[in-house]
Amino acid sequence: MANGIFITLEGVEGSGKTTQAAILGDALRQTGRRVTVTHEPGGTRAGETIRAIFLDPAVSLDVAAELLLVLADRAQHVREKLRPAIANGEVVISDRYSDSTTAYQGHGRGFDLELLGNLNRLATDGVTPDLTIVLDLPVETGLERTRARARGTGRGSDRFEGERAEFHRKVRGGFLAIAKAEPGRVVVIDADRAIDVVTADIRRAVEELIKQPLRG
Ligand code: TYD
Repeated sequence: MANGIFITLEGVEGSGKTTQAAILGDALRQTGRRVTVTHEPGGTRAGETIRAIFLDPAVSLDVAAELLLVLADRAQHVREKLRPAIANGEVVISDRYSDSTTAYQGHGRGFDLELLGNLNRLATDGVTPDLTIVLDLPVETGLERTRARARGTGRGSDRFEGERAEFHRKVRGGFLAIAKAEPGRVVVIDADRAIDVVTADIRRAVEELIKQPLRG
């Protein structure tokens, strides 16, 4: 059986990860591979319940509780969904994973990065991405996209979308620092461009990983 592959998409608010995860999933399915597209927080039944608390700005959460909730979500996601699918030879694409905790709770909230490294090790239990794509763009552009989306759907901002631009700038800096520290795993792609141009760059990064051309 083919070895499973684990790809994560990361980035600030409004960077287009969710759209690109779906497009990439379809392109990989066309090669005949089995593909699971999933997301954090969420991705499991427990995770969707955790996600509701985690994102709802009306639910008061201390930052330590916020951190432990997202780690609980990840621990469940890894054991229930990610590891079994990878072991089964699938390509697994996760819209956010452990780097989001380093960027948001570490660089954004200020938790110690070494502590987060240890906590992420507990949550991920050795399940590490083969490739991580950071979709990068100025935070103002991304926040404007999410606000327009929120206005369109009539829903309010979630806990993080409601944070100040300064918080999101630290998060962006966090993702870029991770990419600098782990250039073999993490590729940064400029997401402040048309969707199909970003898609083409993602495709190239994935083709290099799987050593096979993708269509679309
Ligand atoms: P989501 O609605 O999935 O939005 P996005 O399209 O931006 O991914 O919201 C997830 C939010 O949770 C997002 O603002 C980032 C935050 N988050 C963390 O703070 N830490 C984490 O470890 C993860 C996975 C997400």
